[in-house]
Amino acid sequence: MTSPARKRILVGVGGGIAAYKACAVIRHFTEAGHDVHVIPTDAALNFVGAATFEALSGHPVSTTVFDRVDEVAHVRLGQEADLFVVAPATADLLSRAATGRADDLLTASLLTARCPVLFAPAMHTEMWEHPATVDNVTMLRRRGSIVMPPATGRLTGRDSGAGRLPEPAEIGMLGDLLLDEPEALPFDLDGVHILISAGGTREALDPVRYLGNHSSGKQGFALARAAAARGADVAVVAGSTSGAGDPAGVEIVPIASAVELSDEMTKRAREADVIIMAAAVADFRPVVVADAKIKKGATGPAPIELETNPDILAGLVQARGRGEIGADTVIVGFAAETGDENGGVLEHGRAKFARKGCDLLVVNPVGSGKAFGTEDNTGWLLSTAGTETALPLTSKTLLASRILDALSPLLHRD
Ligand code: CTP
Repeated sequence: MTSPARKRILVGVGGGIAAYKACAVIRHFTEAGHDVHVIPTDAALNFVGAATFEALSGHPVSTTVFDRVDEVAHVRLGQEADLFVVAPATADLLSRAATGRADDLLTASLLTARCPVLFAPAMHTEMWEHPATVDNVTMLRRRGSIVMPPATGRLTGRDSGAGRLPEPAEIGMLGDLLLDEPEALPFDLDGVHILISAGGTREALDPVRYLGNHSSGKQGFALARAAAARGADVAVVAGSTSGAGDPAGVEIVPIASAVELSDEMTKRAREADVIIMAAAVADFRPVVVADAKIKKGATGPAPIELETNPDILAGLVQARGRGEIGADTVIVGFAAETGDENGGVLEHGRAKFARKGCDLLVVNPVGSGKAFGTEDNTGWLLSTAGTETALPLTSKTLLASRILDALSPLLHRD
């Protein structure tokens, strides 16, 4: 008997150099215990042999509707799937999918599938930006498919630009999200500018050392990834991150200290429809940053004098009040709380919500292995309407999608 958690996943592979990365996508899902069937195009088999896909999935591989005709594979595979991932989705494959062609097993299966379909494009920048591809992507999104924005970086030759396949781990994360919640990635944020801060700040003591925190940036990056898949233009001002993996199709602006973060957020805030402060910002910084490495000396440790950093979130809310950024800008904060003798996590969260003045506040319990660096997150979502929605323990990607669901109705669209 198959476990209810074991899902049927189709991985379609197009004929591009990134086809080898499909192997890691297949592995992601088989390692989680899912039943994975691979459907390459004929062109994909020029890059990776059928034997590789068969060994990784444990199932025979075919490219044509004329194999296993007695099993009506071209209809059955699509009908029985819980998730369809196409990686890499080449320009030709997107075109055939958009026009409803069924000239091989992959496109025929796309027509019979009723599950979420996630396309991860990979092609040269010119092909991605060509109006034909733009129209095909628009058409697929209008019909409910999810088309990830490609990553920017090194392409096949010496050139680089938009068109790299998003990292397999990232495709896997969005796939997992769709298995948890098939409706989690509507294309509802098209053209919305979202500015996110993520990760931890580092306050330099000297050229070698800093005061920092345990933030991994995973929640902020998960928000960026989900927002980009939902159509938003996303910029992430990122402090230190660990193992978070840059989201594809998102502008990443690296910063180190709270003051740098403040400057960058303030500079960009005017262009933003939504600002999400997911970064773990140091409240204090050393008054003096030594030019040279601080030596141990003979007298033991010298005290470090600290001064207060700007409260960026509260400052952005005040700037909105003064008309320096758009009055309609939606501002979302996070509250990292451990609870103490003065109150529990939620009580502290409520007080912080009142203090900061933002529109939504995500309250996270932190400490003792919770939230920092983990793949899962939990808490409450507080709104100015007075609602307090419990967020059950779930993946950071699903939590991100719930936060986006909550802010989407607050947007003032033209
Ligand atoms: N934040 C900020 N600037 C700071 C400190 C925090 O913008 N100097 C933002 C965080 O990004 C987060 C929210 O404020 O969205 C709450 O951060 P948190 O660290 O939980 O709270 P603090 O404001 O630092 O308050 P406290 O240390 O008293 O818990």
